[in-house]
Amino acid sequence: MKLFKQDGCRWARHSCMSLPPVIEDSPTEKCRLAIFVSGGGSNLKSIHKACMDEQINGEVAVVVSNLPTCGGVLYAQAHEIPAVFFPKAKATPEIGLSKKQLISSLQALEIDFILLAGYLKLVPKEVVDAYPRKILNVHPALLPAFGGKGFYGMRVHKAVVASGARYSGPTVHFVDEEFDRGPILAQQAVCISPTDTPKIVARKVLQQEHKLYPECVAALCSGRVTWRADGVPIIWTPS
Ligand code: GRF
Repeated sequence: MKLFKQDGCRWARHSCMSLPPVIEDSPTEKCRLAIFVSGGGSNLKSIHKACMDEQINGEVAVVVSNLPTCGGVLYAQAHEIPAVFFPKAKATPEIGLSKKQLISSLQALEIDFILLAGYLKLVPKEVVDAYPRKILNVHPALLPAFGGKGFYGMRVHKAVVASGARYSGPTVHFVDEEFDRGPILAQQAVCISPTDTPKIVARKVLQQEHKLYPECVAALCSGRVTWRADGVPIIWTPS
C-alpha cells in the first residue's frame, strides 16, 4: 500500500507515514451506501457513476433527503434508487421518518456507510453513534477554516473570497455530532486568484469534489482507510 497522493500536491491529502499498514482481508462484497442529499445531487451522481463503473466496491442502496423534490431525489428516482425522507418536512410530514425509523431503515437495508453529499441538516447523535467511523461528508472548503454552522453553499465561497485566501478546495471528513468538525480524511487544494468570484471558486471546488469524494469512498469500501492512534484517519492507495 502507498499513501494516497495527488499530482502536483504530493502530501496535500494526508500526513506522511513511512510504514504501510497491515490491512486485514479487503472486503469483497459490495458495500451498501446511503447517500444523504438536500441539493442538486452532483456528488450523488459522481459516486453512483463510480459504483456503476466499478471504481467503487459499493452500491447506492438508498438516498435520504429532507427535501422530497430536490435534484438529488429526482436523480435517485430516475435511477431506481429508493429514497426516504428525514427529518419530517413541515410541508410533507406524512412521508418523513422519525430518528428511530431512520436508524431502523438503515439497519434493515444493511447500510455499511453513510455519505453526506450536500445534506443541510445536522445528523442526529443517535445516527452518528449507530455508525461510528462510518459517516463521511464533503465540505467545499479546506477545513477547519470556513466550516461550521451557517457555512454552506455560496456562503462558504463568499467567505473564502472575502478573506483573500489563495487556496480553497474540498475536504472529505468523518462526521461527528457537530457541523464540519469530524476527523479529516482527505483534502484537495485548488488555487484561487484574487480576481475569482465566489461563483468561479464554487465551480473550481465542485469539479475537484467529483474526483476526491469517489476516491475516498473507493478507499473506504476497499478497506484502505486506517486510523492513527490519536484518531486521525489515513487513506492509502493500492500498491
Ligand atoms: C457541495 O459543494 C458540497 O461540498 C456541499 O454541498 C454541495 C452539494 O452539491 N456539502 P451537490 O448537491 O452534490 O451538487
